[in-house]
Amino acid sequence: PFYATAARSPQGGVRTAPQRYCVFMTFDVSSSLATDLQVLLARWSASIAQLQAGKTVGSVEPAHGDGVGADTGEALDLGPASLTVTVGLGPGIFDERFGLASRKPAHLAAIPTLPSDNLDESLTGGDLSLQACADDPQVAYHAVRDLARMARGTATVRWTVLGFGRASAGPHQSTPRNLMGFKDGTRNITTDADYDRFVWVDDAGEGAGWMTGGTYQVARKIRMNIEIWDADVVSDQQRVFGRTKIEGAPLSGGSEHTTPDFAATASDGTEKIDPRSHIALAAHEANDGVKILRRPYNYTDGLNQYGQLDAGLLFTAYMNDPEHFTRLQRKLGASDRLNEYVSHIGSAVFAVPPAPRKGSYIGEQLF
Ligand code: HEM
Repeated sequence: PFYATAARSPQGGVRTAPQRYCVFMTFDVSSSLATDLQVLLARWSASIAQLQAGKTVGSVEPAHGDGVGADTGEALDLGPASLTVTVGLGPGIFDERFGLASRKPAHLAAIPTLPSDNLDESLTGGDLSLQACADDPQVAYHAVRDLARMARGTATVRWTVLGFGRASAGPHQSTPRNLMGFKDGTRNITTDADYDRFVWVDDAGEGAGWMTGGTYQVARKIRMNIEIWDADVVSDQQRVFGRTKIEGAPLSGGSEHTTPDFAATASDGTEKIDPRSHIALAAHEANDGVKILRRPYNYTDGLNQYGQLDAGLLFTAYMNDPEHFTRLQRKLGASDRLNEYVSHIGSAVFAVPPAPRKGSYIGEQLF
C-alpha cells in the first residue's frame, strides 16, 4: 500500500523486493513558491496511490470531446505490475527559495567531489527525484511520464535513467547479475536489525522530525567500459570483484553465501581475495561495520559516439546518513580494481520522507 500502515512506515521502493524495471528521474523546481511545491507533492502523492493500485491518474478520454487526456493511457490494462514510486527531496528544497531551511535534515548535503568522479553536470543533482519500479517497464515509464506532466509549470526534468534489469535481490529472490555478468546483491542488508541500524532515520536533527522513519537515497549513474571488460580474462574479472563469476562465491572458498575470509592466503602467501578487490574494500568488515542498502538497476543508453555499447549500472542506495556512501566511495574511488572498468557520470542525493498517512501526502509535515 502507498499510505502508512504503522506509526513508522517507509515509502515503497526501498525495502520492497526489487521489481524488474526502474525509471529514475530528477527535477528542478522552477517555481519559488512553497505552496507550488506543496501542491505538487500532494498531487504526486494522490496520483502515486492511484497508480500503485493499477488505476489511471484521471480520464484518458475526456468528457469534452476536444479535451486533453489527464492520463496518457499507455498503462491501461497492464495492472499495477508491483509498481512503487519513491519520492525524494534534494538539498535544493532547503535553500532560501521556499523558506524551509530550518527543516533541513542534518545529513542532507550534496555529495562532495570524489576521486575518480567523471561527472557530467547534466546528470547531476536535482531538487526532487522519482524512482518508479515495476515488473512491467511500460507501467514504470507511464508513472514517471504522467507525474512529470503533472509537474509542468512547477518543476522541469533534469536527468533520467531507464533501468531494465534489477541488480539486487530481496529476501526470497535469487541474486540477479549486473552487466559485467556477476551476481550483484549477494551481501546486502536483509534483517530488521540492520534496516533499523543503517537504513531508517531515527533522528534527522532539530526541525527535521518529518524525516523520522525515512531514509536517504544516493543515486549514481555508473558507466561501464563494456568492451574493455569483455576483453579481460575471466580470472582477472574474478580478481576484480573477489568472487567467482558463475557461483558468485568469495575467492576464499565456499558457495555464494559463504562469508568471505579476507585474511585467507594461498600457498604462495598472497591473499585469496585481493585487498584491492571490490568486495575487500567495500565489505563492512573493512569499514567500521558500516553497511548500505544497495538497490541498483542495469541501464543502457544504446551506443556511444564511437559505436560502442553505452551501458552500466544505475546505482541507487539507501542509508540513514549519506556520509556512509561518501566514505565508501572515497575509498573505492582511490583503490578499487573495478575503477579501470567503470566511470561515475551521474550523482545525486535525496531525503526520502516516510509514507504519508491516509488523507495526507509526502512531506506534508514540512510545510
Ligand atoms: C558488492 C558490483 C559499485 C558497494 C558488490 C558485488 C558486486 C558488485 C558484483 C559482489 C556481490 C554482492 O555482495 O553484492 C558493483 C558494480 C558497481 C558497483 C558493477 C559499479 C558499476 C558500487 C559502489 C558502491 C558499492 C559505487 C558503494 C560506494 C558495494 C558493497 C558491496 C558490494 C558495500 C558488498 C561487499 C561485501 O560486503 O562483501 N558490488 N558494485 N558498489 N558493492 Fe558494488
